[in-house]
Amino acid sequence: MTLCTKILQSINTTSPLISWTTSSRRPPLHTVKLLESLCINFKATPSPSDLYFLNLTETHLELRENTASGKISRKPLFVDFITGRNGYRRLHNSTIRQPLARAIGIKPGFRPYIVDGTAGFGRDGFVLACLGCKVTLVERSPILGALLEDGLRRGLRDEDVGKIIREQITLVVGDTKNIIKTLSPPPFSIFLDPMYPKLQKSALNKVEMRILRELVGDDQDGSSLLYCTLQFAENRVVVKRPKEAPPLAGISPSHQIGMKNSRFDVYLTKG
Ligand SMILES: C[S@@+](CC[C@H](N)C(=O)[O-])C[C@H]1O[C@@H](n2cnc3c(N)ncnc32)[C@H](O)[C@@H]1O
Repeated sequence: MTLCTKILQSINTTSPLISWTTSSRRPPLHTVKLLESLCINFKATPSPSDLYFLNLTETHLELRENTASGKISRKPLFVDFITGRNGYRRLHNSTIRQPLARAIGIKPGFRPYIVDGTAGFGRDGFVLACLGCKVTLVERSPILGALLEDGLRRGLRDEDVGKIIREQITLVVGDTKNIIKTLSPPPFSIFLDPMYPKLQKSALNKVEMRILRELVGDDQDGSSLLYCTLQFAENRVVVKRPKEAPPLAGISPSHQIGMKNSRFDVYLTKG
């Protein structure tokens, strides 16, 4: 089984330092190696100052809130591409008429190569892969990168999901502003969903959104990400924005596709 993951050595991130623990006597070696390569260090017990920690069980890698820091213990969070919302959307929402598919340039008989430059928990990128696109997921937070890698690796065990992951998804942990220059061929479309300072409706639920905000902050460099990606997309850059938000970097898009609470701003790079 193969999973194409590249870890960039010089990860430039605003993510807080986080450690990993294990509740397994035999934690999977490949995940231990992945955590080491992402400079996430092992601690037998997280320090009281750590808000979160990663826990490696016998089956998966999960993000836990550290009750010793005063946080309320909620359900651990892990990435699952087989069941839950990702599973539901794969089986019941794979239409090319949906706004995301239209925004990104999918057409009957045409499935563009896409870079999801703000992969997060991989939900939007996975939808695009389920629609038949080849997708490179780029995520700069090592914590999210580790959770994504673990979710993809487990997804390989399912026959249908595994085929999609093996044939269509590549994960790169690093900053899109650096990675995008190295990709050959260049992507037809680049999809961006940077964190917006105010609470926004998104593919993620409220708990995931709050955790993301605490882990990665507000993506203050969204404007430079847009400027940079506009130079490298063969056909378009698509930015997801809350409905009432001004366009990213104040640049008017070529057109917009609206939804109930958000919209896609489409920037065509070639006529
Ligand atoms: C709102 S979340 C994206 C959620 C995602 N669309 C999903 O479906 O799960 C934004 C993510 O983009 C990542 N990000 C922001 N700027 C980035 C950059 N320049 N390079 C790579 N990742 C970036 C953040 O670390 C965060 O995980």
